[in-house]
Amino acid sequence: MYNNTPRTMIVTTALPYANGNIHLGYILEAIEADIWVNFQKMRGHTCYFIAGSDAHGTPIMIQAEKQGLSPEAFIEQMSREQLADIEQFGIRFDNFYTTHSPENEALVSEIYRNLKDSGAIIHKTIYQAYDPLKKMFLPDRYLKGTCPRCKTPEQYGDNCEACGATYSASELIDPKSVLSDVSPETRATEHLFFDLPQYADKLKQWLSGPHVAKEIQNKMQEWFEAGLQAWDISRDAPYFGFKIPGEEDKYFYVWLDAPVGYMASFQHFCQNHPELHFADFWKKGSETELYHFIGKDIVYFHTLFWPAVLMASQHRLPTQVFVHGFVTVNGEKMSKSRGTFITAKDYLAKLDPEYLRYYFAAKLNGAIEDIDLNFEDFMQRVNADLVGKIINIAARTASFIHKFFDNQLAATLNNPALLAEFMGKETEIAEQYEKRDYARAIREITALADKANEWIAVEKPWQIAKEQGGVLLLQEIASTALNLFRILIVYLKPILPRLAVSVENFLEIPPLKWQDIETPLLKHQIKTFSPLMTRIESTQIAEWIQNA
Ligand code: 2FM
Ligand code: ZN
Repeated sequence: MYNNTPRTMIVTTALPYANGNIHLGYILEAIEADIWVNFQKMRGHTCYFIAGSDAHGTPIMIQAEKQGLSPEAFIEQMSREQLADIEQFGIRFDNFYTTHSPENEALVSEIYRNLKDSGAIIHKTIYQAYDPLKKMFLPDRYLKGTCPRCKTPEQYGDNCEACGATYSASELIDPKSVLSDVSPETRATEHLFFDLPQYADKLKQWLSGPHVAKEIQNKMQEWFEAGLQAWDISRDAPYFGFKIPGEEDKYFYVWLDAPVGYMASFQHFCQNHPELHFADFWKKGSETELYHFIGKDIVYFHTLFWPAVLMASQHRLPTQVFVHGFVTVNGEKMSKSRGTFITAKDYLAKLDPEYLRYYFAAKLNGAIEDIDLNFEDFMQRVNADLVGKIINIAARTASFIHKFFDNQLAATLNNPALLAEFMGKETEIAEQYEKRDYARAIREITALADKANEWIAVEKPWQIAKEQGGVLLLQEIASTALNLFRILIVYLKPILPRLAVSVENFLEIPPLKWQDIETPLLKHQIKTFSPLMTRIESTQIAEWIQNA
């Protein structure tokens, strides 16, 4: 039943900008990817889970300046803090690095040389707002003015929050620099562009393959029909980023070096693992699979720019780009003013991270829909399903093994048919993990838990204990229940790694692997049961319920 041809994969999450606290949107993505990676590793595959901080760009430069820090010191501090928050959620990267690294600078420069040699770099003069006081060109979001359509003042340079219009910064009425409040000048500047349209045909062909979901393919079709545009990959000084070789005071735009940061983080990992040869993983035709987990807002970068850059620089392409939706809280977009913007730290101050892993998993199904964190539903699912059904199987049977059998499991089990049914779900549940339909996997697992609980209710081990004491039948029933529980924990381990560790300690077994499903624990000494997970109290989530 256990088919497992060895695979090697690199899996990434998007690289969070190193300018703010990690919020639940990123945590959703990291949890989705971490579950997938854990599953692959449990199945014995080689899987490298790679990420890092996205360290460049104007906002980071400005924020560092505001805090009186050098950008280098600022990103280092942010990145450290971000990783600490992420890890609290049980997310285990094989490498978490930064895009501001010598490896990334060397790679992006080399890739740029390849793009240039292949005739994919063009020069164009553009006209951009310039802040004469700050002596810098201004990205659209650093301009504010009156909306050209509805005339609402104080709108950003690219779209109006009042009427929803999108426009170019030059159309803003009475624009001002957000940084200095002076009126910007319009200045000419020469930028470097990546000639994306050269790759339109190759991209169309690639995107018709099994690399993105159908919905994304349709979206891509619209973009192709609208026509691809050359992509501006340069920024003028002052800018926090890498200098473009052979140019005066020009820097690579953050979005060129960010995905190259995936490669650089992996290269850094290889330096600590001399048996791995970095180039083999990224060369054209590499057999390693490459998966990017991203949010729906950055699809364009990952399905057009990034593959085209890889094509133009003779690298391998992603195997698949997995796209998820946004996190909403109690049905609404997270909002700072409504108090529903939840950072990783806010959550960690109140609740066990495994609850959120379970809840997000129960809602993730591989589609691009938004995921709503509804706190009433969250409490209900954790308390009723996870604690009330799954954990309960062990909680209600382990005491008999302790009390009557010296913590020794029976040599024979009581209900082979039920055990076989639990084992028999293996292929289906594995397929659901593979497809990232964790919601379905959890539905299957809770349905199995229901069956176990129904069976226990029929057998009434407490009655046997009361009437007959420590008879073999009691030992067999409780041992069967704990074996059923153990199978469910194998199925849940990708989602709940910390719970799995507690269960491994309780059962006195080495780390559970997927194929452990096949071999029941018999005549085996366990530890005395202690509660594995507690229910959520409504006081823990009161703040978020009130805001609902
Ligand atoms: O959108 C973002 O948050 C970016 N920092 C993601 C970068 S992903 C990759 F390309 F590095
Ligand atoms: Zn408007």
